Amino acid sequence: MNKITAAITAVGAYVPDFVLSNKVLETMVDTNDEWITTRTGIKERRILKDKNKGTSYLAIQAAEDLLKKSGTNPADIDMVLLATTTPDMPVAATAVYVATQIGAVNAFAYDLQAACSSFLYGMSTAAAYIQSGRYKKILLIGADKMSSIIDYTDRATCIIFGDGAGAALFEPNHEGLGLQDEILRSDGIGREFLKIEAGGSLLPPSHETVDNKQHYVFQDGKTVFKYAVSNMADISEKIMLRNNLTNEDVDWLVSHQANKRIIDATSSRMNLDESKVLVNIEKYGNTTSATLPLLLNDFEHLFKKGDNLIFASFGGGFTWGSIYLKWAYDKK
Ligand code: UT7
Repeated sequence: MNKITAAITAVGAYVPDFVLSNKVLETMVDTNDEWITTRTGIKERRILKDKNKGTSYLAIQAAEDLLKKSGTNPADIDMVLLATTTPDMPVAATAVYVATQIGAVNAFAYDLQAACSSFLYGMSTAAAYIQSGRYKKILLIGADKMSSIIDYTDRATCIIFGDGAGAALFEPNHEGLGLQDEILRSDGIGREFLKIEAGGSLLPPSHETVDNKQHYVFQDGKTVFKYAVSNMADISEKIMLRNNLTNEDVDWLVSHQANKRIIDATSSRMNLDESKVLVNIEKYGNTTSATLPLLLNDFEHLFKKGDNLIFASFGGGFTWGSIYLKWAYDKK
């Protein structure tokens, strides 16, 4: 087969050691383990405690895990794409620093921001570059230090998010494996319901914005939940129909981990057996750009060459989408 497809050929991940459990959150805000577990499926999340370390630290660890496991020479990487909502600094791009630190000396690098869909959109970008024949090795990293933008006195958000990072290497494939199809969407209506109000060009930082806690994530959870459930389920069903995939054909659902009830609604619309639905939200919470690659890393041992994976995400903006990908290797 002469057509070039874009396959994932290696994955890696990193989560910080510190565990913030539901029990500990009970001592911080008015919440309880039972509420968090039944409403979200989360039991604990990881937090990067070191105040001197930002998202780049998480991203570098995940990238180095991938490089080590796959034996990839970083000098061979053409491009480093960092999907993140929590860059180290507004300027310069965190990806550039990460690329240099891991030794990707021949790569160009930039950040991609689309809230919880950042990694999914990044998969599309990486695949397009590979399919065009322009580049041969693209390292896509999803990393977020969500604890840096969360108000730990706000029970509506602090129970949900965690820190983490994952990475995937995209390379050309000539057997028809890798990314098969995608449906990506966005709708600016979402900007009011999930946002950090201040710190950008619209409302630059000031004493007032700090006093008003406008640098933290605000989420109207109920509204976001409704949009997430209907859009993620719709788009996942749509990509199956468009590719003539039955529930038997789909081997794994790799879904954004925001709420176990959203994942259940999506898999139920796809009529998928529970055993095909990858879930690790109980361990990490919502790690934003890192949820999809953390799933790939945690469940890599189950994937077989040729397996059909459906990716799905929904995030702030709103941004959402679904990707159909054929897995390209058996884990050694
Ligand atoms: O990843 C990016 C996209 N984000 C998402 O997809 C997140 C979507 N939203 C959600 O996952 C859910 O809306 C949440 C988990 C954020 C909230 O769950 P919910 O079932 O929508 O709860 P709710 O906001 O409707 O609140 C239900 C009740 C309220 O009490 P009353 O008014 O019924 O007495 C809340 O005050 O639960 C209360 N509540 C809490 N209770 C204990 C809200 N947060 C908490 C809490 N602990 N942490």
